[in-house]
Amino acid sequence: MRRLFPSRAAPSSAPQWSLEEIAGEYAYPSPEELGDGGEEGAWLRGNMVASLDGAIHHGGRSRPLSSEADMWIFGVLRGLADVVVVGAETVRQEGYGPARAREAFADRRAASGQAPVPVIAVVTARLELDWSLPLFAEPVVPTLVVTGEGAPADRVEAARRAGAEVVFAGEGAVADPARVPGALAARGLRRQLTEGGPTLLGQFAAAGVLDELCLSLAPRITVGDAPRITRGAGLSVPEDFSLEGVLEEAGFLFTRYRRIRQ
Ligand SMILES: NC(=O)c1ccc[n+]([C@@H]2O[C@H](COP(=O)([O-])OP(=O)(O)OC[C@H]3O[C@@H](n4cnc5c(N)ncnc54)[C@H](OP(=O)(O)O)[C@@H]3O)[C@@H](O)[C@H]2O)c1
Repeated sequence: MRRLFPSRAAPSSAPQWSLEEIAGEYAYPSPEELGDGGEEGAWLRGNMVASLDGAIHHGGRSRPLSSEADMWIFGVLRGLADVVVVGAETVRQEGYGPARAREAFADRRAASGQAPVPVIAVVTARLELDWSLPLFAEPVVPTLVVTGEGAPADRVEAARRAGAEVVFAGEGAVADPARVPGALAARGLRRQLTEGGPTLLGQFAAAGVLDELCLSLAPRITVGDAPRITRGAGLSVPEDFSLEGVLEEAGFLFTRYRRIRQ
């Protein structure tokens, strides 16, 4: 056992972290570590914020649980990713917009061979989305719609007409979560970030493809009946993760865990 907080140093002497330092802390595994690419070369990281009592939204949105530092890390994680994978319900509830190019990441992204912004990939079976949203109508890079081959053909057509690119990952009406990272990696999108919600994150975790979890713990209690960060059928055996890092600001803990591969 060891004490992480309070540390021996006076809080006022805590150094301010630069963007470069935060980006270094959250660096993805190198291309060498990821392997030769193709379907096996994906790294899927989840990023979620939860209250002390485990709620992942308040009034249907995650913003009331967040903080300035949390949003900063959120932005850094996006700045490092090739693709942001998100469930359709989060798009509908949070009015998701397209990723915005940020000057601070321009050189780093260009040097890594990345587009100016991460691609947003919306996972959906029903494809009942508002195609006039800026997410589909005005992205810097075309938004992806990830679904199963059995998805309704007219909805697939509507998505394409709106400018989205449709990625099939699975033969049924729904996408096979185990195949989603590979389908994206096959398009060169290997540094993957999922921003949830709990239904999608639960599916990735249950399928054994969630490599890393960045969990922000907000020093707030909400009560209510909001879900926790994952939902779905439980695993028969809980999966272990190792603690890779903890940052703190204003009582928020920014934790990073990596799945222990058996
Ligand atoms: N605290 C946080 O960090 C955080 C992060 C994200 C979201 N949230 C909150 O979470 C809530 C939404 O979460 P949620 O669990 O209800 O929804 P979700 O995970 O965002 O999305 C669920 C939807 O994704 C699609 N989907 C999921 N798995 C699929 C699969 N295998 N194949 C095809 N489609 C699939 C389905 O879309 P269709 O219905 O279109 O078929 C499903 O209804 C919101 O209130 C949001 O604010 C919080």
